[in-house]
Amino acid sequence: MKTESSTERMNEKKVQLIKAQQGELDAVILYRRLAEVVKNTKDKELFLRIAADEGKHASILKKYTGETLKASNFKALVVITLYKVLGLKFILKLLEKGELKATESYSLLVEEFPTIEEIIRDEALHATLINKIIKR
Ligand SMILES: [Fe+2]
Ligand SMILES: [Fe+2]
Repeated sequence: MKTESSTERMNEKKVQLIKAQQGELDAVILYRRLAEVVKNTKDKELFLRIAADEGKHASILKKYTGETLKASNFKALVVITLYKVLGLKFILKLLEKGELKATESYSLLVEEFPTIEEIIRDEALHATLINKIIKR
């Protein structure tokens, strides 16, 4: 039945958008925590700027989902622990991968939800900026 499958498809998209929204909220906490612990002032500024972008992404997605979600600090906890044990470059490589992966998953949604284009641009920039610190 045609209508049923299209409803299912919409539900699936909504689940993806909600997951993305949650990911953005968690990323705000993660990058803020990272800004608190790193030594370099320029790095702190960059992580705060990225945190602000992730917050903006969460609001863009909220407009599509209509859901109010609560940020979880679990990812931040894991990443900050890894930072303390394995150092900045180790976690930056993980975060760079995460940013690139985000551009890929968002590109599957952008056709139906055009404002996501703005998010994709930001995530690609985040990956580039993080890569600059890795190569420093
Ligand atoms: Fe984001
Ligand atoms: Fe990002």
